[in-house]
Amino acid sequence: MRVTEIDGAGALAQLVPGPLSRRRRRPGYEGESLSIDVDGLAPVEKTALLTLYARALDSRCETPILCDRSANEVTGKLNYDFDSLKMPASVLCPVVLRAKMLDERVRRFTTEHPDAVVVDLGAGLSDGIARSRPPVTVDWYNVDLPAVIALRDAVLPVRRQEHCVATRIGDPHWADPIPADRPTMLVADGLTAFLSEPAIVDLFLTVTDHFRTGELAFNDYGRIGWVSRVALRAVPQGTSKAFSNAGFADARQPEKWNPRLTLVEEASLTNAAEVALFPSHLRLGVRLAAHVPALARKWRILRYRF
Ligand SMILES: C[S@@+](CC[C@H](N)C(=O)[O-])C[C@H]1O[C@@H](n2cnc3c(N)ncnc32)[C@H](O)[C@@H]1O
Repeated sequence: MRVTEIDGAGALAQLVPGPLSRRRRRPGYEGESLSIDVDGLAPVEKTALLTLYARALDSRCETPILCDRSANEVTGKLNYDFDSLKMPASVLCPVVLRAKMLDERVRRFTTEHPDAVVVDLGAGLSDGIARSRPPVTVDWYNVDLPAVIALRDAVLPVRRQEHCVATRIGDPHWADPIPADRPTMLVADGLTAFLSEPAIVDLFLTVTDHFRTGELAFNDYGRIGWVSRVALRAVPQGTSKAFSNAGFADARQPEKWNPRLTLVEEASLTNAAEVALFPSHLRLGVRLAAHVPALARKWRILRYRF
């Protein structure tokens, strides 16, 4: 496990075998470009590129949902054929909407608790601290696998209150570098689908074993049956193959795994006002899905207090 502050050069050297070279500007990207290779990332680590690209595409829209311009800048620094992802609106829209909904929950928590710690579990290349803008008294920890943290260090600025933890969630000591005695907001955007059920149960137990008090919020797909698996084939570049668990329908299931967690919110993206910004073909389906609980659960945010 490794905690990094500003360690970009060393991390980059590990990650990028060849020399850095200048790269053409991509359409939609107006900043300075570095060509950083991501070929060495494992499939589960590459999923961070998918969510990054969704945020970048959204930021290029005239009426963005999330408007994360940092994502667009980061895609410009990576030597990766993002166009090959051929991302459909049915993937892009929920990815950026759930990020927005989770950001709102982080913002609310840190406003109520200016002494808080935020832990972004499976942070990928998300610039959550820039989007949520917590008080300067908040400490923010980005947790992800070592290769992804190395890439983060290379392409994203690290603010004074920000820390990166390079570890595997599932490692018994992953939380050790993070303060335990302050109100803590743990957020996991796009992580849980890549953890096996025992790993998720272990995560939920570790949260309350390590952190004294706080909240845990994450996106979730409900129970992933065969219908969902067919639908997931729409997810670009075989990302669905990295999905590791069948999920759970009952939002109270985590309370059974860990009675110290209390469900405080189950919110479906299908009810969000931002659905009005979805392309019309998708908007109609999503508005209908809002009335079918089994479908509304496929796009949900869950939040627990401890
Ligand atoms: C779909 S990406 C989401 C990234 C980021 N939250 C976002 O919204 O852009 C999933 C992330 O979880 C990370 N991840 C998967 N399994 C992990 C584990 N066991 N420990 C730490 N990170 C993990 C991946 O490396 C990847 O960055």
